[in-house]
Parts: sequence; C-alpha cells; structure tokens
Amino acid sequence: MVGAVAVELKGVVKRYHEILAVNQLDLTINTGEIFGLLGPNGSGKSTTLKMLMGLVTPDAGSITVLGKDVQKDPVAVKQLVGYVPESPRLYEFLTGIEYLDFIGNIYDMQTKEKKSRITEYLKAFQLEGREGDMITSYSDGMKQKIALISAFLHRPKLLILDEPLSALDPRSARIVKDFLQELKAQGVTAVMSTHVLEIAQAICDRIGIMYQGKLLALGNMKELRQMSKLPDSGLEDIFLKLTGTGDTRAIVEELLK
Ligand SMILES: Nc1ncnc2c1ncn2[C@@H]1O[C@H](COP(=O)(O)OP(=O)(O)O)[C@@H](O)[C@H]1O
Ligand SMILES: [Mg+2]
Repeated sequence: MVGAVAVELKGVVKRYHEILAVNQLDLTINTGEIFGLLGPNGSGKSTTLKMLMGLVTPDAGSITVLGKDVQKDPVAVKQLVGYVPESPRLYEFLTGIEYLDFIGNIYDMQTKEKKSRITEYLKAFQLEGREGDMITSYSDGMKQKIALISAFLHRPKLLILDEPLSALDPRSARIVKDFLQELKAQGVTAVMSTHVLEIAQAICDRIGIMYQGKLLALGNMKELRQMSKLPDSGLEDIFLKLTGTGDTRAIVEELLK
C-alpha cells in the first residue's frame, strides 16, 4: 500500500459564522507518511483534523480517509482511525484500566489481546501502579498518556493526533516519537499537529504550515528551507519567517521595557 493515498482533502472550506477557519484547503497525505501540521494558534489545524474525523462538517469540498468518504461513511472512518483530540475528555470517574478496557470493548478487541496491549502500554508510558486509581487523580500528562493509549490500542492504520505531545514530559514525548517511527515502519500513517518543532523536524516526512486557514507552505525540510530562502535553518526559523512573526526579539524587547 506504500504510495497509496491515505487522506485527501479537496477544496475544503469551514466557516464558523464570520470566521473562515479553513479556506480552500487541498492536501494529499500518502500511506506510511508522518505528516506534521504546524501553524500559529487559530490557523485552522484542529478544525482540519476534526473534519478528517467527521466531527466537523465542511461547508464545501470533499474529504476521503483511507478510501472512505468521511461524509458518507462516518462510522467506518472512526473505526479505522485512532484520534487524540486537542483537549481529550475522558470518563474521569473510571480508573485508567477501566477506561482503557472500555475503549478496547468499543473497538471489539479480543479480551486476551486487549489485556496484553493495555499492560504493555501502561508499562511503556510509566503508568504502572496507577492504573487502578481514578482518572480524576491523574496529572494532565497522565491523562494525555491515557488518551494516546486509547488511540493506539486497536492498532489503527491511520492516527490523527492533535497536539499529542502537550503536557508530556520529555521522556514520554520521546516514547511517542519512537513509537510513531516504529508504526511508520509497519505502514501506519500519522497526521499530527504540533508546536514542538524539534519533534516535527525529527520525525515528519512532510510538514504543512497553516496560516489563516490556508496552507502557506508544504514540503519536506529541504523544500521548506528552499521556499523560505533560509538554506541552513531549522524549522523554527522557517516557521517564524513564513508565518510573519519572525521578529520575536523585537516583541520580547518591547515586553521587557
Ligand atoms: N466551535 C467553534 N466555534 C467558533 N469558532 C471556532 C470554533 N472552533 C474553532 N473556531 C475558530 O476557527 C479558527 C481556527 O481554529 P482552530 O482550528 O482551533 O485552530 P488551531 O488548531 O490551528 O489553533 C479560530 O479562529 C477559532 O477561533
Ligand atoms: Mg488546535
């Protein structure tokens, strides 16, 4: 399946009243790709990811995910995809293990496989020993780990991750990074929005920089460097230049006055 299209958006528009959140977006993501969606706050990343999941209906355009039309086949898409929303809402009156067991049941997982995977993931994310505590007692980072495990548990072919590294400590962020690379080797596709530019630079095959609902730039690191005319720069400089907020030093100086 390598080379096949995993996600396709054509002429996608989403308005919230007078706000044009996504403005004529065309984007194709290939199977096995790790695709990073970057952009300042409010640039339309979360809206785009929600539309891929069928949680927000576009006003115009078409979206296919793993060969399915998101509007026509919304349940099939949700079965095939693992999604971590921007601010995951968990059933916090459940314990971690009860919640993950519940998620495994939703995806119709076999009991044995479900239990062994839950145990593996709890261990990998260093939640062992806390799985019997109610989620209300977890830190934000621990809740984020539960949300990630919930998305990974049924081994989906496509992961849609909205700021998956938020609230994670460096070690856990590293685990997610390594894990995504391993999944990629197995042909899994991932689309993720992130503000952690180092990780985007390290693991994303291609990066799309969104600004005011449009894709301002799209390509691998080499192509982005060429586009921004910053041949030796990292993603942070490219991002700041392309999104027009490059003069951060002036802003900081202004704030310190
Ligand atoms: N449910 C909503 N109702 C009204 N406006 C929204 C809603 N969701 C997002 N928006 C607006 O759409 C724009 C894009 O938001 P979003 O997709 O969340 O951006 P990002 O994830 O890049 O920060 C913003 O201006 C935001 O205020
Ligand atoms: Mg967002």
